[in-house]
Amino acid sequence: MPELVGIGVGPGDPDLLTVKAVKAIQSADVIMCPASKEDRPSIALSVVSSLIDKSKNQEIVKLVFPMTKDKDVLVETWKKNAKIMAEKVLAGNNVVYLTVGDPYLYSTWIYMHREIEEKFPDVKISVIPGIVSMFTFASKVGVSIAEGSEKVSIIPSCYDLTTVKEIAKNSETMVFLKDGRYFDQVIKLLKESGFPNDSIFAIGQDLGTENEVIRKMKLGEVNDDTLTTKYFSILVVKRV
Ligand SMILES: C[S@@+](CC[C@H](N)C(=O)[O-])C[C@H]1O[C@@H](n2cnc3c(N)ncnc32)[C@H](O)[C@@H]1O
Repeated sequence: MPELVGIGVGPGDPDLLTVKAVKAIQSADVIMCPASKEDRPSIALSVVSSLIDKSKNQEIVKLVFPMTKDKDVLVETWKKNAKIMAEKVLAGNNVVYLTVGDPYLYSTWIYMHREIEEKFPDVKISVIPGIVSMFTFASKVGVSIAEGSEKVSIIPSCYDLTTVKEIAKNSETMVFLKDGRYFDQVIKLLKESGFPNDSIFAIGQDLGTENEVIRKMKLGEVNDDTLTTKYFSILVVKRV
C-alpha cells in the first residue's frame, strides 16, 4: 500500500542519515522537500542529493514554505502543500518528505502530518526520525545537554524572548535554535537573568557542511565577534 513517510535527514552531513532513511529515500516514487522560496534550493534535499540515483528518474517536488510569522499565510501554505502531498499518495505513489534534523522538532512536517491526518485519513503515514542538530552540536563540542537532575530548555530565539528570563533562572542548560541573527538579544537576556560568567557557552553555524563554524568559551568571554548571523545557528549555554 502506498504511503507517506516523513524523514529526518539529520543536520547536514549525508553520513548522518539512518540506514532506514536511506532505504526509504532510494525506494520512493516521489521525493518531496521544503524550500523557503521557489528560486531557493531545499537544504533537506541538498543533504541527500549524493544518495539519489538519477537514472531511477524519481520525481522530485519542492514545496514552498515562506519564512513568515503571518498565521493566515502559514495556514494557507500548510493546506496547499498537504493537499499536494496527500494526492500524490492517493494516486498510488510512495512519497517521502525530507526535513532537516528530526521531523518533530520545529519542522514543517508537523503541520503536514496534522493536516493530512485530519483531511486525508486514508493516507497511510509513517515517520523515520533523524539526528537532531543540537545533539550533533553537543557531540562536536563535547558538552552534555543534560546530566543527573539538570533541566533543559529549548528556545526558538527568533520569537519574543521577554518570558525567557524566568526560564533561564530555572534551567541548567539552554539551547537556542532558529536564527542566529537574534543571538545578541540572547546574550543580553542571559546576563540579565544572572547566568554566571563561567557558564559554558558554545555556538555553531552550518553544522555538517563545508561552511561549519564552531566556537566554545565561557559566557563572560563572549563579545560581538563571537556571534553568528545566520539562520542555521545553534547556541548552547550551560551552568558549570
Ligand atoms: C526549523 S528548525 C529545524 C530543527 C530540526 N528539525 C532539528 O531537528 O534540528 C531550524 C533550526 O535548527 C537548527 N539547525 C538545524 N540544522 C542545523 C545545522 N546544520 N547547523 C546549525 N543549526 C542547525 C538551527 O537553529 C536552525 O535555525
